[in-house]
Amino acid sequence: MERTYLMIKPDGVQRNLIGEVVSRFEKKGFTLVGAKLMTVTKEIAETHYAEHKERPFFGELVDFITSGPVFAMVWEGENVISTARTMMGSTNPADAAPGTIRGDFGVQVAMNVIHGSDSPESAKREIAIFFNENELNNYEKAVSKWV
Ligand code: PPS
Repeated sequence: MERTYLMIKPDGVQRNLIGEVVSRFEKKGFTLVGAKLMTVTKEIAETHYAEHKERPFFGELVDFITSGPVFAMVWEGENVISTARTMMGSTNPADAAPGTIRGDFGVQVAMNVIHGSDSPESAKREIAIFFNENELNNYEKAVSKWV
């Protein structure tokens, strides 16, 4: 079963969107296997966003993600990596469709509420950056057979 790393960014936490976002993924039928509210250090932020190191907004991105607590999560389910990206909407909220998380709650690209892994390789890498194996719960929900 596929897993992805999702993170409600500091703007989403400040705007009380944790419950709303978690609820969307629960109702969709995915399973939450790990979650925690945490403050990201500069080192973790730079590791997580390493692929964007050369981009002009890298410093701004690191400053933003370390500016307040984030809600880090691991979700499990069939095709959860790409489906979660669809549910999040385009990176720039101005282009994100209504009904998506960014389309419904975001305004500017720098504060777009949520991060989600973009591939199986990224998911594996990002889950390992934010979670220890003993923080992830391997279990099956009875409801899963109806999804
Ligand atoms: S994507 O989804 O990776 O293709 O998006 P991309 O455009 O490459 O952006 C990568 C992450 O950088 C954030 N971003 C910015 N932050 C601050 N300022 C500006 N101008 C900006 N442009 C993009 C964007 O939200 C992506 O963050 P994550 O957490 O990966 O979604």
